[in-house]
Amino acid sequence: MFKTVNGILHIENVNAVEIAEKLGTPLYITSKSKLEENLKTYEKAFPDAGLLYAVKANNNVSLMKIISKHGFGADVFSDGELYLALLAGFKPESILFNGNSKSEREIRMGVRAGTYFSVDSIDELHTLSEIAVEEGAEVKIAFRVNPDISAETHPKIATGLKTSKFGIPREHVSDAYTLALELPNIVPAGIHCHIGSQITDLSPFIEALNRLFDIAGLLEEMSIDIEFLDMGGGLGIDYEGRGVPTPEDLAERIMPVFRERSSELSSKPELWLEPGRSIVGNTTVLLTKVNAVKRAYKNFAAVDAGFNLLLRPVMYGAYHRVAVANKMESEPEETYTVVGPVCESGDVIAEDRKLPRVEKGDLLAIFDTGAYGFAMSSQYNGRLRCAEVLVDGDRYHIIREAESYSDLAGKQLVPEMLFSDGF
Ligand code: LLP
Repeated sequence: MFKTVNGILHIENVNAVEIAEKLGTPLYITSKSKLEENLKTYEKAFPDAGLLYAVKANNNVSLMKIISKHGFGADVFSDGELYLALLAGFKPESILFNGNSKSEREIRMGVRAGTYFSVDSIDELHTLSEIAVEEGAEVKIAFRVNPDISAETHPKIATGLKTSKFGIPREHVSDAYTLALELPNIVPAGIHCHIGSQITDLSPFIEALNRLFDIAGLLEEMSIDIEFLDMGGGLGIDYEGRGVPTPEDLAERIMPVFRERSSELSSKPELWLEPGRSIVGNTTVLLTKVNAVKRAYKNFAAVDAGFNLLLRPVMYGAYHRVAVANKMESEPEETYTVVGPVCESGDVIAEDRKLPRVEKGDLLAIFDTGAYGFAMSSQYNGRLRCAEVLVDGDRYHIIREAESYSDLAGKQLVPEMLFSDGF
């Protein structure tokens, strides 16, 4: 999928240097076969589970079409994600509308489409019921439960802690479901949690699953028929090449617990998972050109992609492997800090990396950028978002065009008074 031929990085059979010359940089490039491999891995590891792709990781419609064609459902977190998921062919009845602060507009859109809802507060439950009545729809819900589990990951992406903004505290769960049973047009159908992201120790998942089953027992006492237990996403990927648990490892750990604890219940819930990063993360490289090499107190390789296109290093101190795409077989010689073009000293993509000698015009590849890469991009500093490309064997397709200057000014309006004399 990513290989070196004659010292040059290839994405499947496409030469990174040639494509960068043809289409310009920066450029996000995704390998279709890597994506399909990841999807098949999940399908094989969890043949009976409901697999909901977390759209937030990468909402490119072409990539999502591949994912939906594999029979995945979707986890959406906003009206925009719902819009894109539907466009990509996900069936509304396999979409879960997540979110801790949904607007009435978003709720109505989900109700009209016919999605499941993960409800994050009692206020939301009331609004949902009112809208469902107005729309003449019955809505199947799960509550997002705060499992109070500490998973070892960056604090900004640990979401199952007691103090997190997400979910209903365990002590309130029973009251919440009682209310859900009373309110019109609401059908309690499942339980939802999500403990965090980039998790590479599997034990918190077992803990979370056990919490879901504890709650399921409680719900059965309330005569609720439980259709699904949704463990959320969060499985980490191998950014550093150290070896991390795979979806198969996750299945091996959780399925025995799932089967054993299911036998305690009279309803036969499905297991649902919401993987994002582990579906798309390692499918994509960001190609970026070296504009300048500066030998100052340290060596800087200044490239044309910064935190405007890849926020993760700045936001989470995240590590992404970097290679010189046109010198893949050269020995690492010097240490460089790879910096972007944004006017902030924090705009660092990779710190102190040993690389072959880097020169102006070289092409750097930043790996594992398929998840939360383009999806978190911005136009800060008046920088245009770059193109995205899908590679399929020898062929490639532009799946998002690069922005143009008019996209910077596109929605801006200049009041008439500013055209008059004196301004
Ligand atoms: N389900 C829910 C409810 C979530 O909040 C998330 C991620 C997922 C599923 C997918 O998790 P994944 O399998 O991708 O770990 N921007 C951060 C990650 C934020 C994750 C937010 N929620 C990053 O770049 O690391």
